[in-house]
Amino acid sequence: MIPSVLPTYSRAPLQFVKGEGTWLIEADGRRFLDLGAGIAVNALGHAHPALVQALTDQAQKLWHVSNLYEIPQQQALADKLVAASFADTVFFTNSGTESCELAVKMARKYWYDKGHPEKTTILAFEGSFHGRSSAGIAAAGSEKMTKGFAPLLPGFRHVGWGDHDAMHAAIDDSVGAILIEPVQGEGGIRPLPDQCLKGLRALCDEKGILLILDEVQCGVARTGRLFAHEWAGVTPDIMMVAKGIGGGFPLGAVLATEEAASGMTAGTHGSTYGGNPLGCAVGCAVMDIVSAPEFLETVNARAGFLRQKLEGLVASHPDVFEGVRGLGLMLGLKCKLAPIDLVKAGYGCGVITVPAADNVVRLLPPLNISEDEISEAVNRLDFAADAVLETQG
Ligand SMILES: Cc1ncc(COP(=O)(O)O)c(C=O)c1O
Repeated sequence: MIPSVLPTYSRAPLQFVKGEGTWLIEADGRRFLDLGAGIAVNALGHAHPALVQALTDQAQKLWHVSNLYEIPQQQALADKLVAASFADTVFFTNSGTESCELAVKMARKYWYDKGHPEKTTILAFEGSFHGRSSAGIAAAGSEKMTKGFAPLLPGFRHVGWGDHDAMHAAIDDSVGAILIEPVQGEGGIRPLPDQCLKGLRALCDEKGILLILDEVQCGVARTGRLFAHEWAGVTPDIMMVAKGIGGGFPLGAVLATEEAASGMTAGTHGSTYGGNPLGCAVGCAVMDIVSAPEFLETVNARAGFLRQKLEGLVASHPDVFEGVRGLGLMLGLKCKLAPIDLVKAGYGCGVITVPAADNVVRLLPPLNISEDEISEAVNRLDFAADAVLETQG
């Protein structure tokens, strides 16, 4: 008999009932160090006092109001994002997938209004992930996402990850945009080298097409800059954000330049919940914390500390690990065995990690994790690595 919850997830037999900072607490009282943070969602850990305060203050006043009316919390968050980024304007969504939908619509509408309705093709890298909607799976293109869901939304083509020459060669008159993740998350924590991102910006400028960045997983201070593309010193035309921006409240956004957003006039897009007062009140509290220079400095310091510890872990378990990669607090342990085995062993040792493609275990801890918690988490990963070897003995 089909379970009452549609069985689309393979869930671990863990039932968390409480979260405190970097810790998750199981129903039986066991405490886990959370290096997954809801897959880069709980950017400030669990139950951060400023976020709890923002949510409960707003909940006592007004939960929801339609986008038919002005929403001051939405205006405030848009102003903060515009002030802190390349963007001139912001649309709020509830998830990364919805941000992908709008990014695709925005690019196509841009070209339609410019008198080039043929420029519908969006180029992307293999191994990418942009969500589970029809546009999201077509944009990612991998068989794992698309099998059985034909017909796919047309207008996406893929080239090998980081293959600048192939990207160049793929541009014809039908191409309107390039869509990429500055750091691939699901694809196995693959940071695009700065030179490559710079090159893609230059290519888009040369060909007069739009650059869309998916910073759903790597944005919002995760890499040690407010947005990952800042490391390369270039800016996109359109950017998708979600996950960390809500710190656990479902919230996403599309940020764009005035030019790229020029087709999106009244009536061209909308959302019932996107940008509602609760979500935006929390988003404002998140932004106030993560955009502060001292916060970003601490993220970079903690990232350096974690990376150093992980290098030590890799060196002491050459049979389990091949190396560490990633940027900031978006790190991957490349494994020599199935990553899910290490993740499961981690559950037994009280540490939460997340598997990704390309044999990688992802570490996406809360951005405010302490040095002591990092040391303890890496000790637990050390036990997990021993445990996994023993079981495979
Ligand atoms: C890079 C990227 N884009 C889009 C998405 C989809 O976001 P959501 O699951 O919030 O719809 C994800 C989710 O993991 C992601 O990592």
